[in-house]
Amino acid sequence: MLTGAGISAESGVPTFREAQSGLWSKYDPMELATPDAFLRDPELVWRWYRWRRELVAEANPNPGHVALAELASLVPRLTLVTQNVDSLHQRAGSKDVIEFHGNIFEDRCFVEGCVVDCDAEASVPVCPGCGSKVRPGVVWFGEAIPEHALNQSFAAAQECDMFLSIGTSSLVYPAAGLAEVAKDAGASVAEINPNPTGLASMFDYAIADKAGSALPAIVEAL
Ligand code: OAD
Ligand code: ZN
Repeated sequence: MLTGAGISAESGVPTFREAQSGLWSKYDPMELATPDAFLRDPELVWRWYRWRRELVAEANPNPGHVALAELASLVPRLTLVTQNVDSLHQRAGSKDVIEFHGNIFEDRCFVEGCVVDCDAEASVPVCPGCGSKVRPGVVWFGEAIPEHALNQSFAAAQECDMFLSIGTSSLVYPAAGLAEVAKDAGASVAEINPNPTGLASMFDYAIADKAGSALPAIVEAL
């Protein structure tokens, strides 16, 4: 299964593209979530990510996250791929979460790419190993998905019997391609989203509901 920002919406974490409330409706992603933006104004990018970190740190997993953690013990095998960087699945008890777009709480050296421990208070932290700027450990536009995440996710999509796409606008590839790979490999595919997405016609089932109510109902019914 694949989750997107929609599953964290009921935890109070803004999505990206929803009009009014979405992050991208207020900020231009090209100004904040690209390597060039970071090199152009690292302090601005850090201010934005620190604001998002605080927002996410105050959020709690909602019944949708909890239901997915419970679901793992009710089915033979569950692979949870998330585009979210908020750790809410892990905090709800999900194990082996594949973080397709990294994790907002990680700090990485901009040059070496490794996770580093650095001075969290500095306006732009520097790598203790090589002195380069440190960046948030999330995948930015134009960057590659971590190879292990990519390979594990597409392998699971090819092998699964049922693929759930939950709380994502299905606009960002390669993540949005997972459902298509699962479908082509013979899986049943379902979308859980109050608003139909551009891939809706491809899904066998569409549950037009919030994740926080649809997922507990699915777990209840099993
Ligand atoms: P979006 O903001 O694009 O889409 C959020 C989706 O969640 C929308 O389709 C909403 O209809 C749906 N939604 C809202 N509330 C919901 C709820 N309570 N239950 C279920 N669904 C709900 O966010 P993503 O699809 O996650 O990438 O965006 C994908 C990627 O684009 C993000 O990971 C990020 C962004 O650029 C990077 O940062 C690399
Ligand atoms: Zn370094």
